[in-house]
Amino acid sequence: MVREGWDAIAEWRDHRMGEAGDLWHRAIIDPGLLGQIGAVRGLRILDLGCGNGYLTRRWARAGARSVVGVDRSARSLAIARRRELARPSGARFLQRDAADLRGLPDHSIDLVACNMALMDIPDLKGTVREVARVLADGGRFVFSICHPCFDLDERSAWEIERQLYTETVWRKVRGYTEERMSRVPWKISDTKLAYTRTYHRTLETYVRALGDAGLAIRAMREPRPGPEAVRRSPQGRFMLEVPLHLVVEAAPWPSGPAHRPRIPSGRGSRKSVRTSATVGRRRGWGGRRRGTGSARRAASPGS
Ligand SMILES: C[S@@+](CC[C@H](N)C(=O)[O-])C[C@H]1O[C@@H](n2cnc3c(N)ncnc32)[C@H](O)[C@@H]1O
Repeated sequence: MVREGWDAIAEWRDHRMGEAGDLWHRAIIDPGLLGQIGAVRGLRILDLGCGNGYLTRRWARAGARSVVGVDRSARSLAIARRRELARPSGARFLQRDAADLRGLPDHSIDLVACNMALMDIPDLKGTVREVARVLADGGRFVFSICHPCFDLDERSAWEIERQLYTETVWRKVRGYTEERMSRVPWKISDTKLAYTRTYHRTLETYVRALGDAGLAIRAMREPRPGPEAVRRSPQGRFMLEVPLHLVVEAAPWPSGPAHRPRIPSGRGSRKSVRTSATVGRRRGWGGRRRGTGSARRAASPGS
């Protein structure tokens, strides 16, 4: 029996994620995302693509001023609300498409967090535009995704070369420049297979979508697996060499999209480029928070 979509795997996924996240979230992805986010006390937070809402509720319990979890999957939200009812944290949950955050006022959010969902959302541009709309002055957009360079659906894989005394780990990647949707299989029981959709995009596409919406990248992390992941996941030690996840922090450009940097078309125009690092230094940004990072899809078959 084959089922399709996030609703189809919501119960199965909730069982794996619980209140702490599964192994990959706990020991690879979340430390990178949470380390980048830092303290949340007093912040108005939007958790975009919140799933079962375990992070949404964690932020509410950590003293955020308000936290709303948004997801398109009705089943995931029903689970999130059920968990909230059982152990109230103050988090709210809203069913919305990420590219249509109707009901969330302009400039009303200090932190939009999006953990491992942006690559699964079909309308990247529309989503990032909505994120930029709801972000308050000084607000931040922090997201984690499958690393676009190293984790591309079935077009990337590990290759282990074993010789008598040595083992070399290769990460093979093909078709990086071809952006496309693919279906991710999840074996949710011995007899049931479900599929979700994911969208491979190049790094350039992500950066462009952020820039077009008036957001500049302030920081990036490539999370490394923690000791638990190295010990318990067959891929854990491989990810010490090649990261499968990426954490990005972006924030509104000081004077809006009109002043975003232009990528020069040829040589010789370098002077006209203002990099985000330059702007960051000017505004006192950059290098504030340090920590580990790493990531790939949670609970992927064979993870
Ligand atoms: C891999 S899950 C991550 C969930 C959660 N952030 C976590 O870390 O456990 C991706 C989530 O994105 C949600 N999603 C996919 N497309 C969406 C869209 N267009 N709008 C809102 N949520 C979406 C899915 O329903 C799913 O809950």
